[in-house]
Amino acid sequence: MKNLWSISTNEFAGGKESLMRRGNVYQIANGYMGYRGTLDEFGPEESVGSTLAGIFDRVGSAWREPVNAPNAGFTRVSLDGAELSALGRKVRHHEQTLHFANAVFARETVFASRGKTLTLKSSRFLSAATPNLGVVQFSIRCDKAAAVTIRTGIDCNIWDLNGPHLPQLTAEKHGSVLLVQGVTNESAKRVVVAEAVGLDFGTETHETQGHRNLRAIRLHAEAGKTYTFHKYYAVFTDHDAVGTPLPAAAIEAVRQARALGYQACLGKHNAEWARKWERCDVRIEGDDEAQHALRYSILQLLMAAPVQGSANSIPARALSGQVYKGAIFWDTEMYMLPFFLHTYPEKAVELMRYRIKTLDGARRKAATEGPGYRGAFYAWESQETGDDACTYFNVGDPFTGRDLRTHFRDKQVHISGDVAIAMWEYFKLTGDDSLLLEGGAEVILECARFYYSYAYFKRDKGRYEILDVIGPDEYHERVNNNAFTSTVAKETFAIANATVDHLRKNHPKALQALLRKIDIQGELPRFREAENLLYVPAPDPQTGVIEQFDGYFQLGDATVEELKAKMVHPNEYLGAGQGLAVATKIIKQADVVAMLNLLRTRFSTEIKKANWEYYEPRTEHGSSLSASAYAMVAIEFGKLDFAYKYFLKTAKIDLEAKYKVYVGNIFMGGSHPAANGGTWMTAVLGFGGVQADENRVAINPRLCRKWKSLQFQLVYQGDGFKIKITKTSVTINPARTNTRKHTLLVAGSPAKCSPGKPVTVKYRQAK
Ligand code: BGC
Repeated sequence: MKNLWSISTNEFAGGKESLMRRGNVYQIANGYMGYRGTLDEFGPEESVGSTLAGIFDRVGSAWREPVNAPNAGFTRVSLDGAELSALGRKVRHHEQTLHFANAVFARETVFASRGKTLTLKSSRFLSAATPNLGVVQFSIRCDKAAAVTIRTGIDCNIWDLNGPHLPQLTAEKHGSVLLVQGVTNESAKRVVVAEAVGLDFGTETHETQGHRNLRAIRLHAEAGKTYTFHKYYAVFTDHDAVGTPLPAAAIEAVRQARALGYQACLGKHNAEWARKWERCDVRIEGDDEAQHALRYSILQLLMAAPVQGSANSIPARALSGQVYKGAIFWDTEMYMLPFFLHTYPEKAVELMRYRIKTLDGARRKAATEGPGYRGAFYAWESQETGDDACTYFNVGDPFTGRDLRTHFRDKQVHISGDVAIAMWEYFKLTGDDSLLLEGGAEVILECARFYYSYAYFKRDKGRYEILDVIGPDEYHERVNNNAFTSTVAKETFAIANATVDHLRKNHPKALQALLRKIDIQGELPRFREAENLLYVPAPDPQTGVIEQFDGYFQLGDATVEELKAKMVHPNEYLGAGQGLAVATKIIKQADVVAMLNLLRTRFSTEIKKANWEYYEPRTEHGSSLSASAYAMVAIEFGKLDFAYKYFLKTAKIDLEAKYKVYVGNIFMGGSHPAANGGTWMTAVLGFGGVQADENRVAINPRLCRKWKSLQFQLVYQGDGFKIKITKTSVTINPARTNTRKHTLLVAGSPAKCSPGKPVTVKYRQAK
């Protein structure tokens, strides 16, 4: 049976593609930073990356991207003078593992050189207890006596896509601690890395080797004896509010870690991870493949989740590197947030605080992006300030090498509504309005203000319309009345109105202060009007199909296969000016179906089915966001086998590496946290049928064939529940610490849940 708590491999073929892929799949992260799944002896050629969350830099006119720290995970070994690398010819055996339980990466490699073998073992983690800290345990054993040199320290050869971001690094040694300091180009942010080792063998000398700040440990290794040492490193930047200078803080951090020792550091880290899994694990009985991939997905989300108090968010490629500019997209609100909202609201709050933090950037974008736009137009690709990192020419044409004009930045306006909806969801599911008071309400009102400035009032039709946009389907640009976009805009007005009502009732002074602060009182009646009069395409009365945008039905018919057969270049972009999909009904990803999933309770099963059946054959699923939306909607009308297929496709996206690596000529490889979120969403909200709103939690299970049971945890309005769903019953175990009695609806029947008292309800699964 497959180990359900790890992934491992013993193949080790070099090659760029496979190194890149493994770097993504075996990455570790702790919200503060990531470390790609590369090996100790690797350098920039093998794309070693220690990507820092929330700190960005730009060199010249290249794309701004997150900063990679100098690599303090570096260690290289030589055996009788011969350097060892898993990419070299001396490898006899290699195995590497990522442990899900505690996000530890481990490897073991056996090298043979001149009649001797050396076994190298290492394991590393980024501390979940102390976010600035990385720890490595490293050991070697030779079968015969040998001269071994271990070079370990900080490699300042940093892998960057568009660097160098820390152009002038200084390497020093303070007592036994190695230190490297650098400053970013653009905003002179300091990045400091310190490293210390706990070592009791060999003789140590300090070496600077090219761009490496190293210690060389020389020893005469005895036959059969294992030599183990530990590395502790700390990364600090100007974003860390430490009372002392950063170098002193970093040095102190590694000294403390060393004094604590490896086992104690690991113990604290493990305890944090145990707590995370205790609340976030999902168990599937009867389907190891799904269990494994789902757990891997949850691990990814937990590793990427922002550090408490950081007000950071999760980029579209998480912390797997600099791809996609390290930018935050709608992916976070629409695909990742549900997991955090339902299981780990303390992290959801950080994701939302990030949008509050970047509100000024969204205001700047509105003020500069178009004629008379007002309010908050959130960045399509958002970095630390909220100014848009998305360029007007965001895709390269592989034929000409030229950049293609795309309108993701200026027309994909649904992003503001996605943010407003997420902010309100947070309030509904947690019952906590403090976030609204601390900037959330301001975000919502500014998003409504933006849509009001974007909308047109059609006098002849007596309605508002949202024109000239891109919906989630990026292959059709500058369309009118896109169902998804208009829906989120209308929702934004409704949410803005509900926010005002809530504050008026519960926090009248705060409301007055806010209305004054952003001078919006006079606009409130317009939001009421727009909530009523904004046009959203409705289902066709005969077919039930909602037209994705005005004129969509007139576009050419084609199948995805026919379209792809016409491609001249494998990476050719199908959208923009003359992409192959533009004149056809082929869409990149779930659009109407994403809307049906977003507003699950608003549409009947028939409408969902009609639209699913119409759009699915026309969807390329060219984005990792697409399949889970289709899976979710398929579950609702009972197409469970299909939903299961798309669930697995989403869950295994990184494990199987079946995704596009190039969009046009732009490299997009990296991990896919939105798919990880979509996986959880499909398992728990889809097959588990959980549907929570401000009034209650409903559970309408639709377990797929293979699943005997599904177990997960929910946090709802501050209280916790363990849920177990089988094909015939739902058991709810409310936490003893719950503050009140809740009534959950199981397949329509009320289940009264008092703190600490499990309840089992029998049900019959809907067809
Ligand atoms: C998708 C977007 C998504 C972005 C980042 C694009 O390919 O079309 O919807 O936000 O990737 O994942």
